[in-house]
Amino acid sequence: MEDPMGNSTGNGGDRPDAPRSPGISYQQLLDTDTHDVPVVLRLESPKYLGSADVSIDRYISREWHELEKSKLWSRVWQYVCREEEIPVVGDHQVYNIAGASYLIIRSAEDTIQAYPNACLHRGRQLKDYDGRCSEIRCPFHGFAWKLDGSLQDIPAQWDFDHVEAEEFSLPECKVATWAGFVFMNPDPDAEPFEDFLGEMAEQFEVWDLANRYKQTHIAKIVPCNWKIAQEAFCEAFHVNATHPQVMPYLGDTNSQVDVWENFARVISPGGTASPNLDWTPTQDQMMRAMLDVRDDQDSPMPLTEEQSMRAIAASMSRERWRAVAGDWVDRISDAEMMDSIDYTLFPNFHPWGAFNRIVYRFRPNGDDHRTAIMEVIFLAPFLGERPPPAQIKWLEDFETFSAAPELGMLAKVFDQDLFNMPRVQTGLESTRKPGVTLGNYQESKVRWLNNKLDEWLERP
Ligand code: FES
Ligand SMILES: [Fe+2]
Repeated sequence: MEDPMGNSTGNGGDRPDAPRSPGISYQQLLDTDTHDVPVVLRLESPKYLGSADVSIDRYISREWHELEKSKLWSRVWQYVCREEEIPVVGDHQVYNIAGASYLIIRSAEDTIQAYPNACLHRGRQLKDYDGRCSEIRCPFHGFAWKLDGSLQDIPAQWDFDHVEAEEFSLPECKVATWAGFVFMNPDPDAEPFEDFLGEMAEQFEVWDLANRYKQTHIAKIVPCNWKIAQEAFCEAFHVNATHPQVMPYLGDTNSQVDVWENFARVISPGGTASPNLDWTPTQDQMMRAMLDVRDDQDSPMPLTEEQSMRAIAASMSRERWRAVAGDWVDRISDAEMMDSIDYTLFPNFHPWGAFNRIVYRFRPNGDDHRTAIMEVIFLAPFLGERPPPAQIKWLEDFETFSAAPELGMLAKVFDQDLFNMPRVQTGLESTRKPGVTLGNYQESKVRWLNNKLDEWLERP
């Protein structure tokens, strides 16, 4: 069955009999919204992607990591930074991925270019840090290039009469921008970014992430393969065991999972109880759980059973945003105020829809396949002039996300996820089972990511 947009609808995609969690479905919940719900939330694209185990060598083997380097990271579109981080000509960022380094630079007012971060003389990396420059001069012997990559200067020119200036330009990577994000692809023959992104651009139009500013940027090296870290944020199934404190107000297993070509999403409804609870919370208990107020304390927002916690929490949220987002918050649905709308663009970029502010990125930590870099970025709306983007803050190895008060109540939740990560790595290094087993629906975004990865690594 297909809807007018060509998306398959109903239970299970190719498997119409695929069972779903008991409890209210996400689409049924949208029917109760106090506001108009945007069309993008009404889309459904469930995909049954098979039930076979997913091999574990992808998380533990060096060979797999080497394949990712040659077949994935050197060819795929990847998020680098926000446009607002390189606003002035000469502003640049050093982007490191799986042992390789790239330089992303604003070479003219309307142009961003990217180069392998390597000198054409004897190969030293050209820039060590983010910054601003008027030329790209290598710190080793002083060869220099203009911002557009053409050769500017060879010290001791007399010794290099064999170097043709026209053939000594920095080789280019592809660059694209979307919604204020800058993307780079090392492969000069890569498909256009717009084709890669597909319909995702249209789906985000209503949320206009270009008009947000980078409010917070936290990075942490985590002791596991980058995919273990990433997959911890690609399903809500783990909520019952890992984050039980949110179950009174999060419909974990009633999340909707949608898979398209290069992107997928999980929408987890807020302000509705988990069907996995063995008790039924009152509206007041749901509110207390969300506000983290114990049963023996006075609630700042006592609710009766006639009130809808979801609608009231959404309206509280509208008031919170009004000062920085303006009165258009009155047009925003309860769903956009309450739900976790977690999109993933393959391979590792996770912008959330609506007002959650979250963007995640996960990547290997340098050339090490057993550690990863996890980043949490908040993009916030603003009124008037765009505030300056937050600097990246690296947490120390001994620090957890709770050391970043900028993350608010989310820090505690991330710490619960973080606690699992090295233990998944150790488990996978120890197991006798050659593959992990995934739920057909709830974990279909995890399967989609791994299927895409297989596809990329199988390419010639
Ligand atoms: S390696 Fe760059 S100038 Fe020599
Ligand atoms: Fe989690």
